[in-house]
Amino acid sequence: MPVIAIDGPSGAGKSSVSKGVAAKAGWGYLDTGALYRGLTWLAQQEGVSAPQEISNLVRGNKLNFNLDPLNPMLVAIDPDHKDKIKDLSAVIREELITNSVSGISAVPEVRAELLTLQRDLIEKSIAEFGGVVVEGRDIGTTVWPDAELKIFLTADVAARAVRRQAQLSELAEVSANSVADSLAKRDDIDSMRAASPLRQSEDQIVLDATYLNLEETIQALWNLIEERKLNG
Ligand code: DC
Repeated sequence: MPVIAIDGPSGAGKSSVSKGVAAKAGWGYLDTGALYRGLTWLAQQEGVSAPQEISNLVRGNKLNFNLDPLNPMLVAIDPDHKDKIKDLSAVIREELITNSVSGISAVPEVRAELLTLQRDLIEKSIAEFGGVVVEGRDIGTTVWPDAELKIFLTADVAARAVRRQAQLSELAEVSANSVADSLAKRDDIDSMRAASPLRQSEDQIVLDATYLNLEETIQALWNLIEERKLNG
């Protein structure tokens, strides 16, 4: 029942690689960054900014994540009408959210509340799919320290900016420089916060994808899974 933890800085390709590996193995996929983004969206919708109020929003069970790697989706649930769900996948990638999410995710009360939700979703994925690939910043260090395989997926900032720019250009015109600045700023906040920062740990395997394309990165990770006989 393996848990594969994929941590690393913004734009290293964690989502595409994690989805690809989960689909290949038939496991579930959890994007924990989407939960932090969804909470940021919810806080903006409800006009709350105090740490306690934001963490209370998590307890309201208004967010859920569809763990199927072929159709991963962050949804908001209307607590009064549980059949009414709103797909947040596009809105959480907007600049307004991207610029505020690192601030909200540095708040210890928010992290503590989301920790429970993340662990519940991991357990659900193990029960439904027999395994899970989880991506974030602190999965191997804090969320699931017993993960069978822990990866620190990285790439140099210029390579990450080019990839992120290609994704964003479908939504708006952005320069590689401004994307690199925004990535570097988020990396700084995510690495320097006191609560569960992004950091490399000794039990992680570093995968540097600067010179690898998506297929090659998926294959590199797949080789590690096979070497460790984690795939059945
Ligand atoms: O992976 P992403 O860019 O969608 O993540 C959005 C933000 O959420 C990122 O700036 C840091 C935060 N995050 C976190 O603090 N811990 C995680 N496990 C996942 C994301």
